[in-house]
Formats: sequence, structure tokens, C-alpha cells
Amino acid sequence: MEKKRFLLPAVEERLYFNTGTAGPLPLPTLQAMEQALQEDAWRGRIGSSRMAKVFGLLADTRKTIAAFFGADPDEVAFTSRCTDGLNIVLWGLRWSQGDEIITTTHEHPGLLVPLVRLHQARGVVIRYVDPGGEAEGFLRRLEAAFSSRTRLVALSHVLWTRGMTLPLKAVVDLAHRHGAGVLVDGAQSAGVLPLDFRTSGVDYYAIPGQKWLLGPEGTGILLIRKDRLEEVGLTYGGYPSQKEVAPDRPEMVLKDGAQRYETGLPLPAAVVGLKSSLEFLHAISMDAIAAEVRRLVEKAYGLLREVPGLTLLTPPFEGGYEPSGLLTFRLEGWEDAEVVKALEQKGIIVRSLPRPFGGVRVSVHFFNTDEELEKLAGALANLHI
Ligand SMILES: Cc1ncc(COP(=O)(O)O)c(C=O)c1O
Repeated sequence: MEKKRFLLPAVEERLYFNTGTAGPLPLPTLQAMEQALQEDAWRGRIGSSRMAKVFGLLADTRKTIAAFFGADPDEVAFTSRCTDGLNIVLWGLRWSQGDEIITTTHEHPGLLVPLVRLHQARGVVIRYVDPGGEAEGFLRRLEAAFSSRTRLVALSHVLWTRGMTLPLKAVVDLAHRHGAGVLVDGAQSAGVLPLDFRTSGVDYYAIPGQKWLLGPEGTGILLIRKDRLEEVGLTYGGYPSQKEVAPDRPEMVLKDGAQRYETGLPLPAAVVGLKSSLEFLHAISMDAIAAEVRRLVEKAYGLLREVPGLTLLTPPFEGGYEPSGLLTFRLEGWEDAEVVKALEQKGIIVRSLPRPFGGVRVSVHFFNTDEELEKLAGALANLHI
């Protein structure tokens, strides 16, 4: 496949195995952002034509996002990060004391913190299901966690801790059969697994711009199904929320689409950048990206398995979970953070995971190469000696 590595300068600098934290910025994205900022500086952020241009940019980008994820433009809200989208839905749903949400024991604080706050503030009961090592067992435990009070299943599509891809279609079917909605944390999946929001059946899908989508920091997307808009009230609102509001009338007419959850303008240069990065990925093709990541991750799994003293914490794919772009391991006799430091000295960038999970996490995106995986495995084998 055409990897376009020449347009990703950061991947030439070092071995870039940490897209799960933040992806490399493509040069066309940098140039588009620079141009937008230059125009702002030289022409000023004023005048009716500038306003029209910004609104045009938002409308165009909403369409680009919708086409990329198989959604309707009215199902797209701009956010500043993945966590924002999760909060919009969790605080927007109307809860009664004792309502239940099912999640997993491997969620990121971006989902976990709002869930715990919801428990404290609204008396919502959170039920935690262990993903274990294979999808079938997980689905059995998930099914057992439903009760007549379950209103939502909130979980990651890809677990940030161990990289398993949760069986989303089966989760959605199960939740809908029990009359519950599904909120997905797409931080480690969007940009690596193709998503067709329309056919996925998912009700709400929150996405960061800065990771696998290779967009700027401070960007995010919330996809929300049209027929769920009325169920998710506004926690914060602002001028983009209203279709009509008048000071002499207490009622307000909200925008028809998901734009109602936006409280103001995002940084236009960041929106330009996000649009450019989506176009960059689309030009390569999300299907080709997904296939290449799968090939590379399976190869990485095989190589790491052979490293003496290395234990893979990501369960084997055969008969288990579908892979993603993440692999996690531990090296005998080494603290995780020390492995990260030692690899960094060799120009290899990975990350360690906090307690209680632990482990060293490797992110593999389409731009990584077989040779890089071999270097990583070789460097780890040398550490063990
Ligand atoms: C699974 C998961 N959820 C949420 C987040 C938070 O993303 P953001 O910083 O875009 O809110 C991360 C980021 O590390 C993540 O890995």
C-alpha cells in the first residue's frame, strides 16, 4: 500500500509506536493549519466574509466527517476531545436514582471519571464487566449484568489497556434487546478500524482527533443518532445550540441536529487540520489501512512472542478477540517505565500504562513497517540479555 511516509515527518525521526497517545501530523495538515493561522494574523478575525468562511468550513467539515464515518451531517457534533463527547451523552441523558450503566473493568479515565461522578451525583449504579481473554466469555458476562434498570452500555470499542477489539455488533444487539442504549469510547478505534456508524447500530460514538485520525490536538467528534437527539438534553449550551431563542420568551427551539451540543466556535485552524487529516486517510483508504494494521499487528505479536523474558498481556487473537493497533507486554526483571526509557534512548517511542493495569504499550499504525517491528523486537531482546 502507498504509506505516504514522506508526508509524515515525525515517523522518520524516531520509531513511532505511540499513536495511541497522539498520531504524527501529516504535512498537508500542518500546511493547511499554518495557512489558516496566517490569514487570521494578517487579515484579522473580523468582517462578514471571515464569519461566512468559518461557518462554511464548519459545514464542509461536518460533511467530510459524516462521509468518513457513515453518518448524517446532522449526527455530527464538534468537540475538543473524546472525553467531551462521552460527558455530553452521560450528563445529557435523564437519570433516575437506581438506573444502571454497564461498562468494563478496563476503561480509560475519560469514561471512568464521568461514570463515577454520575454515580455520586445522580445515584446511577455502575456495573463493571471483566473483558477477560476472549469475546465469547465477555458477552456471557455482559448478558448476565443486565437488569430491568439497565439503560446504557458504555464501553470502549478498543481497550486502551490490552488492545482487544470488543465485539461491537453483538454488544449493540444485546443492549438493544434489553432496551438500553450504547455509548462507545472510540479513542483507540477511530482511524484504525473502519466505522459505518449507520449500520453499526451504535447510539453514540465519541472520537478524538489527535490519535489514529492524525488530526490536531484539541479536536474531537461526537456522533449521535438522529433518533436519540431528543433523549440527550443539553448540559451546556450556547449560540450554536439554538435555532431560535428570544429574551422575551422562556422557551427555546434547538437546532435540529447534533450541532445543538456545541457551545461556541472551535479553533478554525484546528478544524481545517482535522478535515485535512481525514482527507489524508481517506485518500489512502480506511479499508487498506485496517488491513495493513492487522497484518502488522499480527506480525508484531509473532515477533514479540519470541523475545526471551517477554510476556504478552494482549491475549492471543486465534479464537479470541479481534486485534486492533495496540499490543501490551511486560519484560521480566524490568519496570515498565524503565523499558520505555531504555527504548526511547534507542529512538523507539512506546508508553507504559498506569496501575492497576501496568504493561508497556506498543501502537502500530499503517505507516509503521516490518523493518521497524523487527528493530523493536531486536531492541527488546537486547534489553533482556
Ligand atoms: C480509551 C481512551 N478513552 C479516552 C481517552 C481520552 O481522549 P481525549 O484526550 O481525546 O479526551 C483516551 C486517551 O488516551 C483513551 O485511550
